[in-house]
Amino acid sequence: MMNSHRSPDQNRQEILAYIRASCRDAAHPFRYLTLSTTDQLSRPHSRMLVLRDLSADDALLMFTDSRAAKVEQLELNPNGAVLFWHPEQQLQVSMRVQLGRITDAALLESYRSQIKGRGARSYTSIQPPGTIIAQPEQAQEFYAFDENNYFSAISGEIVELVALQLGDVMHLRLRCVKESGRWSCSWIVP
Ligand SMILES: Cc1cc2nc3c(=O)[nH]c(=O)nc-3n(C[C@H](O)[C@H](O)[C@H](O)COP(=O)(O)O)c2cc1C
Repeated sequence: MMNSHRSPDQNRQEILAYIRASCRDAAHPFRYLTLSTTDQLSRPHSRMLVLRDLSADDALLMFTDSRAAKVEQLELNPNGAVLFWHPEQQLQVSMRVQLGRITDAALLESYRSQIKGRGARSYTSIQPPGTIIAQPEQAQEFYAFDENNYFSAISGEIVELVALQLGDVMHLRLRCVKESGRWSCSWIVP
């Protein structure tokens, strides 16, 4: 994937294009990311999410239940971290992101309409995510999926990207920072 004969910025563009392509391929390893946020005591929390989109201006799109801990955490501290790992390519992509909830009603509705069948269960449990229950079956009651549910969309604007590709001959590590809408990239020592 990364190539030392191409410029750092070309490599950045290819990595982002690769991540973007994963949103249309359920089997792509970059379809899943690990998102880390911090709580009110600055303790980090990590969990996996499905990547739904990567916009032209480099914002990751994720869906979740608005009652989930991550939502409260990102409202408290919008600085998040995202990690991708591609085992075949031996490629790790680590990002710093600026997190926020998407509030535009029309946009939210268009995302909500993409959720099909049992997928809605991720946003409609009667008991809020994280509630203590005596038996797992007690989490199997769901509201109908309508506009009053807890479906929410999170955006993660990429502000820094560090990619590490392990190789037999040499490892490649690239660091890109986005400031005032412009990327600057350089190779760094792995
Ligand atoms: C492969 C995989 C994909 C997941 N995708 C999502 C997702 O897209 N959105 C989501 O809210 N939770 C997803 N989850 C569940 C989260 O990892 C997490 O357990 C849940 O959202 C509660 O997180 P929180 O309490 O830290 O907010 C996924 C879990 C796995 C294992």
